[in-house]
Amino acid sequence: MPSDLLREIPVDTLKADEAAREHERLSAEIAENDLRYHQEDAPVISDADYDALRRRLVAIEARFPELRSAVSTSVGAAPSVKFAKVPHVVPMLSLDNAFDDQDVVDFIDRARRFLKIEGAISFTAEPKIDGLSLSLRYEGGRLVTAATRGDGFEGENVTVNARTIGDIPEKLPAGVPEIVEIRGECYMAHVDFQALNARMAAAGGGKTFANPRNAAAGSLRQLDPKITASRPLRFFAYAWGEMSAMPAETQMGMVEAFASWGLPTNPRMTLCSTVEEALAFYHALETDRAGLGYDIDGVVYKVNSLALQNRLGFVSRSPRWAVAHKFAAEQAVTVLNGIDIQVGRTGALTPVAKLEPITVGGVVVSNATLHNEDYIRGIGGDGLPIRDGVDIRVGDTVVIQRAGDVIPQIVSVLLDRRPADAVPYEFPTLCPVCGSHAVREEGEAVRRCTGGLICSAQAVERIRHFVSRNAFDIEGLGEKQVQAFHEWGLITEPADIFTLEARDAGQLQRLKNRDGFGETSARNLFAAINERRSIALNRFIYALGIRHVGETNAKRFARHFGTVEAFRDTALAARPPGPELLKGNDAWVELVGIEGIGAVVAEAVVDFFDEPHNRDAFARLLEQVTPQPLEAAKTDSPVAGKTVVFTGTLVRMTREEAKAMAERLGAKVAGSVSKKTDLLVAGPGAGSKLKSAAENGVEVIDEDGWFTLVGAE
Ligand code: IVH
Repeated sequence: MPSDLLREIPVDTLKADEAAREHERLSAEIAENDLRYHQEDAPVISDADYDALRRRLVAIEARFPELRSAVSTSVGAAPSVKFAKVPHVVPMLSLDNAFDDQDVVDFIDRARRFLKIEGAISFTAEPKIDGLSLSLRYEGGRLVTAATRGDGFEGENVTVNARTIGDIPEKLPAGVPEIVEIRGECYMAHVDFQALNARMAAAGGGKTFANPRNAAAGSLRQLDPKITASRPLRFFAYAWGEMSAMPAETQMGMVEAFASWGLPTNPRMTLCSTVEEALAFYHALETDRAGLGYDIDGVVYKVNSLALQNRLGFVSRSPRWAVAHKFAAEQAVTVLNGIDIQVGRTGALTPVAKLEPITVGGVVVSNATLHNEDYIRGIGGDGLPIRDGVDIRVGDTVVIQRAGDVIPQIVSVLLDRRPADAVPYEFPTLCPVCGSHAVREEGEAVRRCTGGLICSAQAVERIRHFVSRNAFDIEGLGEKQVQAFHEWGLITEPADIFTLEARDAGQLQRLKNRDGFGETSARNLFAAINERRSIALNRFIYALGIRHVGETNAKRFARHFGTVEAFRDTALAARPPGPELLKGNDAWVELVGIEGIGAVVAEAVVDFFDEPHNRDAFARLLEQVTPQPLEAAKTDSPVAGKTVVFTGTLVRMTREEAKAMAERLGAKVAGSVSKKTDLLVAGPGAGSKLKSAAENGVEVIDEDGWFTLVGAE
């Protein structure tokens, strides 16, 4: 078994020699990712993928204990997730939002009505810090645990990292209650954020943080506390969790007690007794905001009396005794120097504003999103600022805004500063990457490149789709291999997969000599490819990656047309050359007449074949592959007619693949567990669904169990 194929084999079927090789590969991969994560702060794989590698390593060691080595204990002995979980005895809740003065008036009225208090209620007002919340647990005056908020009920244990933060005392003074849980915000000041980003930029690698909040979160959630220690994090205490005794009876008194114990508290916190005072505080803080030196995104008001807080209690996940009065996003004025068009993995053309760099609330901004073509024209759209027909032109002076971690956007254009020679922006109708037509569907704001099969911006994603489990399902051609082949220039379109072997024979550097390949793996790969020279028509159509043509629609077309040529020719005839109208001709009527196919899908198909680049790539593919009539649906599978639920982390397939696979085998896939569920497939991290499966007597298996059951190993 070649090593690149080994990674696909379930641990319990690995032979001893294979396990040894796979163990070695995993150790190396984990070590490399650790290095990137720790030292370069630039992980190249997701946390979930990293965890999957670790889990697999640990599973191999469980079966083959003799493989445990210095390498593996250094990477494999730790728990399978990056941070251990810490349950919050008192949940960490969120706050309800108030967006204008009236919402604040309503908040106080509601509290008064609820408490049946006629007179004034006193409440605190303090800045809402834009960082991440942290819960510090002290036992006997010593810091024992620091945990992030997590989902509010369970956070991540970041104790070692929190100990490196100067603002967080290791010990509280004598006389503090036995158990003290102090909660507050961990944040990064503007100066420190800028210095950190400058340092990271100088170190190369193109990685910087988008804003101070991300920088704080990224720095606190480090596996190596030395890195956290080198990041200047700060802390403000403003709340608490479990307390064995209360040092005060008011919100203000509690925070003052924290301050007397040596914790930083916010100097702006004040006591108010009327709405007018609260609003005056809010507006004053808004004015001072940019000069505070750290990001805040509003004001938090809290009923001061803890007795009243108790009576008020909670509604769902936020207290009735507190509200967050949000600030509008911060704005600044700058000049638009240019517009770049980026082509995404799905072919969407996204315009990006290139701005004269400007500081917005302490953060330098030089790019802003322009969303889409209509947005540039001033037409607006879902949830976007509308400029009532005022378009954006290169050279314009514009107002930009930055809100939290949202990408900055342009909210208005200062027309009186528009240069006389500024011209309306012409959105490209050709893809800037591959030159194919870029089209907009009716009712869609996004313009997309139609050169799906040949556009290099989309190539890796499209080829990955092409070879995926429900499409061509080519063993040994996973995401990594597709990426590598693309980088080596060996596969740029689907047909290349099938000419690989022939071209390889004439290559100076043969595949078998390349990284990750040996003679056997190259041979096996060519065999796997050749096996797919004949493929079910529905899979073939699905593999093309035509927009809106998923598995179901691919089957509809396959069933209707029977041959791929008929499919293509009808699509071509629906948009004949010349001025003839698309809609209304026979071919179009035939397409939209197919059960389940509407105009949007039909048009996507027509657009696909209308693009000459696609027609050529399609023709080249047909020289290599022979599609067969529709695949019959399976009725004899062990899960046919059963209702299946997938939960937790799946390692060997995506959730989408799992669903498609189950459906292909005649099962119904549900989103939640009930009495009607026959089978729960649970990966690591499964939560409440496991519980309801137990309650409902539903059979539970893991992912490997699923593959064994359906015989797809
Ligand atoms: S009080 C039960 N006070 O805002 C409510 N939260 O939207 C406890 N935050 O998760 C929170 N500054 O991370 C409170 N002065 C402040 C705050 C603050 C920032 C954050 C905190 C919380 C979120 C809720």
